Amino acid sequence: MRVPLVDLKAQYETLAAEVQAAIARVIETAAFIRGPEVEAFEREFAAWCGAPACAGTASGTDALYLALRALGIGRGDAVLTTPHTFIATAEAISLCGAAIRFVDTLPESMNIDPDQVRDAVDSRTRAILPVHLNGHPAKMEDLLSIARKHNLAVVEDAAQAHGARVNGKPVGTLGDAGCFSFFPGKNLGAYGDAGAVISGDPAIAHKVRMLSNHGRSDKYLHEIEGLNARMDGLQAAILRAKLPYLNGWIEARRAKARVYQELLSGIEALELPAEEPGCESAWHLYVIRLDRRDECLAFLRERGIEAGIHYPAPLHLQPAYSRLGYRKGDFPVSEANALRILSLPLYPEIREEQQAFVAESIREFAEKFG
Ligand SMILES: Cc1ncc(COP(=O)(O)O)c(C=O)c1O
Repeated sequence: MRVPLVDLKAQYETLAAEVQAAIARVIETAAFIRGPEVEAFEREFAAWCGAPACAGTASGTDALYLALRALGIGRGDAVLTTPHTFIATAEAISLCGAAIRFVDTLPESMNIDPDQVRDAVDSRTRAILPVHLNGHPAKMEDLLSIARKHNLAVVEDAAQAHGARVNGKPVGTLGDAGCFSFFPGKNLGAYGDAGAVISGDPAIAHKVRMLSNHGRSDKYLHEIEGLNARMDGLQAAILRAKLPYLNGWIEARRAKARVYQELLSGIEALELPAEEPGCESAWHLYVIRLDRRDECLAFLRERGIEAGIHYPAPLHLQPAYSRLGYRKGDFPVSEANALRILSLPLYPEIREEQQAFVAESIREFAEKFG
């Protein structure tokens, strides 16, 4: 049985008519660059998040970069973030001209460790950039209290966490700005690249929108220097067609995660993901941990099961960041997790028999090889 890591075609088949109509609407009105679809999506996504304002961007990477810029982060500043994330989180900091300061993660959630954040704050620190990894919220209460004490901005990387909550509050609305990716495989995915910044302060969203559109306030009036990082009309229309389904998809992810919890319970070699008290995960990824991860990955692949590793190396050990002077051993929790994590196929449309096959195969691997 083939079990892909994600199945975008299965989702498309459930909403093909709406998506086709959305695409036709944009083509017929030729509103390709920003326009009414982008404006409507910004309103609708802000409402879905319970945020006062939203600015669409060309990608999640642009959302992070522009949120930092809108908050005035730049040369001479330092931003604290996690090394256990996708490189875009750190790239956004460098793109602003600020310095990346990695801080190790917590062993359970694999999100940034607030105690170590507290120790890392110095006179250059201007912001904390936590990631809600795999869809599980970072420890926001602690991070926000550190930020308040030291007058730091908090920019949430919610690229993987549409629909996650902390004490009932959606992630992205907790810090100064929340950044989302609509990369096709995300909980809400476009048919190309797209992203968004939400904020409780409409002035921040306004600044992001301006920066993303060459700093314009009118067609040829450029208030500031920006760049081209706009959301395009086709992606906005497609996202609008999908948004009404998002709550149902997140519920389905939650239900499928529970199925894995039951099917995989009792296998001693495994550590299963868990939701922390007060947290609701968006279950973007279902990540188990085990010692013989690479062998397990190969075993599953041989049976037609695609599993993934998010991510195989923490950022401080990536060649792109050798200039920062970090060494192996600097962030032991992130390094140890990188060797043991395995993302199992999880998407709203995954079938019961596919999950059963994944779980049986892992059980067989654990019995054979421990
Ligand atoms: C944690 C995280 N941050 C940022 C990004 C960047 O988003 P995008 O690919 O839309 O630029 C991604 C996804 O790709 C991500 O997973």
